Parts: sequence; C-alpha cells; structure tokens
Amino acid sequence: MLLSFFIPAALTFAAGVILSDTHNFTVKRYEIESDKVRKNVRFLQISDLHGMNYGPANQKLVAAVKRLKPDFVLMTGDIMSAKELGKSIPDTVDTAERLIRDISADFPVYFALGNHEQRVKWRPEIFDFSYEDMMKRFMDAGAVILDNSSVIRYEGIGIYGFSLEKEHYLKTKKIKPADGFLNRALGNRSRSCYNILLAHDPEFAEIYAAWNPDLILSGHYHGGVARLPLLGGMISPKFRPFPKYSGGRYKVKDSDMIVSCGLGMHTIHLRFNNPGELVCIDLRKKTEIGKE
Ligand SMILES: [Fe+2]
Repeated sequence: MLLSFFIPAALTFAAGVILSDTHNFTVKRYEIESDKVRKNVRFLQISDLHGMNYGPANQKLVAAVKRLKPDFVLMTGDIMSAKELGKSIPDTVDTAERLIRDISADFPVYFALGNHEQRVKWRPEIFDFSYEDMMKRFMDAGAVILDNSSVIRYEGIGIYGFSLEKEHYLKTKKIKPADGFLNRALGNRSRSCYNILLAHDPEFAEIYAAWNPDLILSGHYHGGVARLPLLGGMISPKFRPFPKYSGGRYKVKDSDMIVSCGLGMHTIHLRFNNPGELVCIDLRKKTEIGKE
C-alpha cells in the first residue's frame, strides 16, 4: 500500500526535477582574491551550451549576462554541438554564433575550444560545413578565439586558451598530455599577470596546474549529469563513475580551479539535481576583501 503511493510519488518528483534542471539555469557565484590584479574584475564563464536556447534566441541567458555587467565573458568550449540525436547540428552553430554576437555587442568575449568544436575539424567528412567557416562565423560575431593562444588584459590578467588533442578525449583509454605539453602549446605564462587558463576538459587538472596558472576554468563534465549530495557528479563523459572534478571549486597544487556544470546537454538530454549554470567570478584585489 505504502509502496504503491511512494514509488509513483518518487518517480513524479524525479521527473519534475529533470524537467526543471533541463530547462533552467542558475547563476553560480565565486569570489577569488589576488594581489596580482590591478582592480576588481568580474567575469563570466559560459560552458557546454551545446546549442541550447533559454527562451527565444537565448534571451534569458543574454539578459542574465547583461544584468551581471561583467568586464568580460569567457567561453570554455562546446558552445555548439557536434553530436546530436534529433536536433540539427547547424542549428547549434547558429545558436552559438547568435549568442556570441548578442554578448559581444556589450562585453568582450574570449572563446576556447571544446571537443565538439574540434570534432568538426577532426571529422570533416561527417559535417556539411567546414571548421574554418564555423570559426570565421564565431570571430565575425565578435569572439576572440583562443586556440593555444592568449591575450593580456590591462587589469593585469592573462587569458590563455588551451586545446587538447583528439587522443586525450578518447573514451577507451586515458592518454595524458606529456610533460611540458602546456609550455609547448602556450609558451611560458606571464610572470606579472593573474593568469587564467581555459582548458575544456578538467581530467588533466594536475598537468594544467604544473604550468602554474592562477586559475583554471573547465567544463565538459556537465556536472556529472546527475549530482548526489556529498558524492557530487555521478558520471564523466568517459563513463567513469564519480569523477574527481565534476563541478565546483577545487585547489590543484597552487592553482584555483573552477569547473562549470555547463548550460546544456547533447545527445541524451538529462540533468538531475544539476541545473545549468552561468558562472560569475569576482576577482578582487587582495586588500579589498573585507572592506565592503
Ligand atoms: Fe566537452
């Protein structure tokens, strides 16, 4: 009798959570202090949108970005989707391009690559548009593409976009980037700046931290799809249970790392206890903390 009530009630509740989490996003705020920055700076991280729309033409997402008034916006890959069931991949490129255009009208946008953008380059035979055309559209829309490259901003902030090679995303085996990989891809980090490394896949956090960035921003895991209290995200894109860096804030060697739970999904559209998130980071001059 009790079971015949509780099982349908639990299933209805779970369906409601999934429906809500796959259609809504929250603003996840972090505060970091550093004596390296010249002024207080706010920046946003948009990750793993996978061509999703929050409201017509992503109006809800764009409005949230404008409300937060960031100094700049960092996109950490998989903004479009190169793998979909029942959804048009070119539509996801259109959505990414429009979002870049709408945000970059007001704020600088820096764009690092995820495995979905890179898949268009790695598997050109399965797409009816080229990687070069797609990236030109993103640049023309206003994105600064950071594909193993960097920019130095006037606040004393260096932003580096790191692109992993295809073999490091293989689901069948773990191939770590070799020692010195980041130095070869990006050169030495700036010694005077607060350095932010945009690295889509958090799996190799210890290798990124060996390069000594002040902050690593990643995504890719979609929060582990379903999140459990205390245990965190349940599964990684390589189908490993309870991955170490599924979402949130971490300390890896001397680097801070923030892993976004992302804003979208691809192929199987599922999130549980894990709404999409727009990450907002306030980076403050060390002496400013506690004065407000
Ligand atoms: Fe990804």
